[in-house]
Parts: sequence; structure tokens; C-alpha cells
Amino acid sequence: MARIAYVNGSYRDLRDAAVNIEDRGYQFSDGVYEVCEIRNGSLVDLPRHMARLKRSLGEIRIAMPMGEAALAAVMHEVVRRNRVRYGLIYLQITRGVAHRDHAFPSPAVKPSLTVTAKSLSFAKNQAMAAHGIAVVTLPENRWPRVDIKSVSLLPNVLAKQQAKEQGAYEAWFVDRDGFVTEGSSSNAWIVTKSGAVVTRSAESGILPGITRAVLMDVLAALQIRLEERPFTPQEAHEAAEAFVTASTQIVMPVVKIDGQPVGTGTPGPIALKLRDHFHGFSTFS
Ligand code: PDD
Repeated sequence: MARIAYVNGSYRDLRDAAVNIEDRGYQFSDGVYEVCEIRNGSLVDLPRHMARLKRSLGEIRIAMPMGEAALAAVMHEVVRRNRVRYGLIYLQITRGVAHRDHAFPSPAVKPSLTVTAKSLSFAKNQAMAAHGIAVVTLPENRWPRVDIKSVSLLPNVLAKQQAKEQGAYEAWFVDRDGFVTEGSSSNAWIVTKSGAVVTRSAESGILPGITRAVLMDVLAALQIRLEERPFTPQEAHEAAEAFVTASTQIVMPVVKIDGQPVGTGTPGPIALKLRDHFHGFSTFS
């Protein structure tokens, strides 16, 4: 079955879906994106993703290309046309097409909007969680505004590739003070030996993950202690458990950091419990 993409007003076969080479997303990575999980054909936590999208756009002064309800309708249509039951939806908005000039086009041009969806293997994701993943740590080298979900992901791409070449699945960035910020495409967490769940505060150094936010509701409901504070790789090595969160991973146990096992070297019970409970606290639309 051909995959279908939404590109600036029309639904196209993915093979013919294209943007102008003077799109500022292509030339300057002047744009933002969102990724939502698709479960049973529904979009998971769409209102929270929309809110973050609007915030990211606002921070770099790009207008919403259409109203929120119309955008949600496009997203649902892309899911429907691609017949995705389980997978992800990717949405990108850039400042639009203009002759190359670093400053914003004046007058402003129409923002570009593209939406794609793809099916993923639920069984593979579950198998990955059952085994857990390995992580390597790398020096933080991104810009300070990682709170904006910008398409400027070169350091993230290089970090993920380095992790892969070292036999790991994810890279954790470590800031100048020696604290973990987040993963190249996920938020980072540990569970202390006393059972507290620790993750860095969203005040600095991280993208405020939607999975992270929902997980905080799960923790509160399960009465598991949460500590929002930075932690070092050393503390992670000595932790009972570690895991990452992201829309497509949900809660993914980390069993190895820089080649050393975390806890028992197998997925931890708290991570697996949180993974099991997660969708009870999500919205579906
Ligand atoms: N990445 N931090 C970074 C740098 C990310 O790229 C992501 C998500 C997260 C987790 O955010 P959320 O829980 O809202 O997915 C944290 C997406 C999935 C991606 O780039 O594919």
C-alpha cells in the first residue's frame, strides 16, 4: 500500500511528496516538529502535543499554519489514509519558502506544513522493553534552547549514530557540570535504591517531554516518589534502575550505561510497572 503524506494542502503519494528547495526548513532547519504515538488508530495525548507545538512555534515566531481543530483533522486523515493502527505520526512546520536570507522573510510567508505517519511493530517495541537498552554518555554540545522542539537535530543525529556504533541504542548528553541532561531523542530517568524516581527538571537542558509529563501523573497515582533534579552518570551507574521516555518508546528500560550494567542488568520492576500503567493516564483522540 502506498504511503500518503500531507504537504501544504494536499494528500500525496509519499514518493511524490516534496517541498521547495528554498524552504527554510531545508536551508536553515528553521522549523519545529512533533511526534505522537498512534495506538489502535488513535493519536495519543494529542492535546498536550498541540500545546507544545504552539509553544515551540511561538518561541521562534512562526504562525500556526491553520487552526488547531483543522490541524487535528489533517493528522487524523493522514493516520486514516495510511491505515496505521500502531506507529507514529510526524508533523513538521517551517517558516516557509523564501529566497535565502538568514533574517525572517518580510513580509512573512506562509508556513510550510507536512505530516507523515508510519506503522511500527508493536511486538518489536515490546521485545525491546523486555530486553532493555544500552546507553552511552557523551558531552552535551547542543544549543541552550533545547526546550524548543526544533528540527535542528544535528548534534542529536551524531550522538545517536555514535551510540549505535558503540552497540548502544541511545546517547545521554552530560552537561559541563557533569549532570545528565537527556537522551538524543528521549528524556532520561533513574530509580534510586530507596525507590525514588529521578529526572531532571524541565527548567533547563531538556525538551519537556509529553511522555515525561504524563508519567508524572502515573507516578502520583501510584504514589511513587518523584525527585525532579539532575543526576550524574555515576549516580545512574549506582541506581537500582534506569529508563528513558519518548512518545514512541513510552517507558524503555535501560540495562547498561557506558558498558556497565545498571542494577541487576535487566529491566527494572518500577520501569516495567510504569510502562504497563502508562496508557491508563493518556488521552486518545
Ligand atoms: N523525540 N528529548 C528529546 C531530545 C526528544 O527528541 C524527545 C522526543 C524527547 C521525548 O519527548 P516526548 O515524550 O514528547 O516524545 C525528549 C521524538 C520522539 C523524536 O524526535 O522522534
